[in-house]
Formats: sequence, structure tokens, C-alpha cells
Amino acid sequence: MSNVCVLGLQWGDEGKGKLVDILSEEFDLVLRYQGGGNAGHTVVIGGEKFVLHLIPSGILRPGKQCVIGNGVVIDLETLVEEMDDLLRRGFEVTSQLLVSDRAHVVFPYHKLLDRLGDGLTGKPRLGTTGRGIGPCYADKMSREGIRIGELYDRSHFRQRLEEVVDLKNRLLTAVYGAQSLKFEPMYEAYCGYAERIEPCVCDTVEFLNRQAAEGKSMLFEGAQAALLDIDFGTYPYTTSSNTTTCGASAGTGLSPRQIDSVIGVAKAYTTRVGEGPFPTELHGPEGDRLREQGDEYGATTGRPRRCGWFDAVAVRHAIRVCGVDSIALTKLDVLGGQEKLHACTGYRLDGNVVGRFPADARELERVEPVYETLDGWEEDIGDAQCAEDLPTNAMVYVEALEDLLGVPVSSIGVGSDREQIIRRSGVNALSKS
Ligand code: IMP
Repeated sequence: MSNVCVLGLQWGDEGKGKLVDILSEEFDLVLRYQGGGNAGHTVVIGGEKFVLHLIPSGILRPGKQCVIGNGVVIDLETLVEEMDDLLRRGFEVTSQLLVSDRAHVVFPYHKLLDRLGDGLTGKPRLGTTGRGIGPCYADKMSREGIRIGELYDRSHFRQRLEEVVDLKNRLLTAVYGAQSLKFEPMYEAYCGYAERIEPCVCDTVEFLNRQAAEGKSMLFEGAQAALLDIDFGTYPYTTSSNTTTCGASAGTGLSPRQIDSVIGVAKAYTTRVGEGPFPTELHGPEGDRLREQGDEYGATTGRPRRCGWFDAVAVRHAIRVCGVDSIALTKLDVLGGQEKLHACTGYRLDGNVVGRFPADARELERVEPVYETLDGWEEDIGDAQCAEDLPTNAMVYVEALEDLLGVPVSSIGVGSDREQIIRRSGVNALSKS
């Protein structure tokens, strides 16, 4: 069995959790490699809803080995809460989960600085999730971060945390006019969390490479999505990690050669939470309709998502930088009942139609989408089990997207439940036949 990376091709919330949950049945290990508690992967099993922020979605399959890799930034409070919730609901978390000793820890000052710093003079307002992601990755890059492994040498941890809290308190009070944070309760709380997760902590780089050598199959579970990538996304309106395929290697310690194929997940329309350019955004009743029909509210923050038509220019850019082999198209059912559907095929910029995705967010703010218009369908497609069950216009829409993107659609999501997915035979990545 080969190793597969699943990642989002838009601005997040494409439905990766459901896909990973379905695919994980066929893999030995499921790995998270970047991002942190900003992610919200939703899985619905038999009507019961699970929202996972840090633990790989594979945890919902008994016996699957799940790994939080070195590239993830870990909010231990969230992790412990998530473990407790799963335990209460009957899942055997501790024996299935490993946590990298190299992963960086998100502390309360990261979350506070994230919330206080967003939009402060000299910085654009990004509308972050407030989960401390940017400040934690900033500390990692400036070599000021604290890693999970350091928590287990108590005198070293005490000294490091004391120094950092002192520095952050100076920043919080002098620059942000906030109250300083108390060191001792923070230290005590984090020692408690560390003790709680200790059975799961190990050198996952060593572990994963041993597993790879034994021929075990791995499913890499991306968080956020390509257009939020710190290098290739709509900078600065991005998250702070490499959400594209390259992050899978850097965030696990498995070489890029270990990734055999990439499944890009794309919603049949587009959504975005937070600030930043969004050329196909629909304002007014059309956008509201997609939001209500698609239940487009953030799984982590509850914020209403901005909604718009499918943008093939943006997704083509994502496909290229991620090396996508096939596409899992999600939430096609949400488009039911629309008389006409529109897919963006190019951007009009300063009088010319361009097919490239601009590097500069200010340029992207100025483009006007050029649309191909297709007929919609009225039928409810929630019970469709194969492509032949879909209305003709729905398949015409799917095939039009394939033509625009140059990559085959291997599965089609027709509802939120685990069972509501059409695997297209003849397209390798997801077909069982
Ligand atoms: P941060 O990752 O919390 O720093 O937020 C940066 C930007 O990425 C904001 O626009 C967030 O709304 C967006 N973002 C972060 N995580 C997710 C996600 O899981 N889904 C969708 N958007 C996200």
C-alpha cells in the first residue's frame, strides 16, 4: 500500500476530516503534520458529530495508529480536552496516539498575543482563529520556542518558561497595555498536561521512519489548505505553516520520496473565513443561500464563512504547487436547487484576462472573475451511490471542473455522513474497484 497525502485546495473547510476518516480504513497510520488547534476537522458517524482540532481523524477507527508530527504546534489544553472527550465517547485514545517530542507548544501568551496583535498598527487584520498559531510559529522560527520534549526535564522547563514568560509579560504590558501573566500557575498547569500526555510522547521521526521501512502505509492529513500556505497562499492573509505537500515531509521527518500520491480536496463552491482576497465571493442573498444550505459556519470559531462560486484559477494554482493526482470534490449536494451555476475560469486584470494566480494579495483584490455558466439541478442527491445516480447536470458540472483543472475527480461528496460519498470507478485514488 502506498502513502497518500490528503490536503485542501482552497481556503480550508473543504471536508478533509470526512475524507480522512473514510480513507483511514485502508491505511496503517494517520499523521497530522502542520497547523494546530486552528483546524476543525468534522466527521459525522451515524448522525453523531465529532470535531477534531489536533488529533488525526483516524482516531475514530479502532486500532489505527495516529501521530501528531513535529510540524504541528500543540495547545496542550486543547489536546487534553480532546483526549478526554474521545475517551468519554468510548474511543481508546492513549494507545492509538503518538505525539512528537519535537513539536512546539502553544502557551497562553501565544493565544493572548494572537488576539491582541491581530490588526494592530503596522499589521493587516487577518481575522485569525486566535489559537496562538502565528506567535507560536514565530517563536519556533526565531529559536525561542519550547518543544514538547523539554517539558520532561522539569528544572530546565521551569527556567526556560520563566525566562520566556518574563519577556512576553514585558511585551504584553508595555506594547499591548495588557495584564501580565502569572508564571507559577502556568508552569503547574503545563506540568500537569505534560504528565497526562507522557505515554504518547516519543521521537516520532525515528518511529515513522521505522514504520516506513517495514512497509506500513501512511495517510498524511493536511490542515487548513493550499491557499492559506505561508509561501504559496494569499500572503499575508494566510496561516503560518506550509499547508501544501512540502509541509507533510517537513512536519513528519519522512522524506518527500515517501509520499506516493496526493489527493486534493475541493468544495464544489468556495468558502473562506477571516480576511483576505476572495475573487468569486458572493455578497447578499446568493452567498447567504450557500452559507445556509452548506451550514458554512467555522468548526473552530463558529464564525460565518464567506461563500462564493468555484474558482478554477485558484484551485489550478493549488494543484500545481501540491502535485495533486486526483480531486475529492465535496458538498456537491449543496448546489442543488440553483438555476445556474458559475465556475471562474480566468481573472480580468487591468483589461486583460489572465489565467495565473497573482502572488500579490493587493492584485488579487482587484481582479474580476470571468465565469463559465452551467445549468443547475433540482433533485436532492443525498442518496446517490454512484455517478449514474446523479442528475445529468450535476455530472456535467463535475466534468466541467475536471476539464478546467486538468485532474480527475476521484470522489464526490453528496452529504455530511460517512456513507454519503461516491467513489468513481476508473479513477485510482479513491475507487475500491
Ligand atoms: P490562524 O491560522 O489562526 O493564524 O489564522 C489565519 C487565517 O487562516 C485566518 O483567516 C483564519 O480564518 C484562517 N484559518 C486558519 N485555520 C483555518 C481552518 O482550519 N479552516 C479555515 N480557515 C482557517
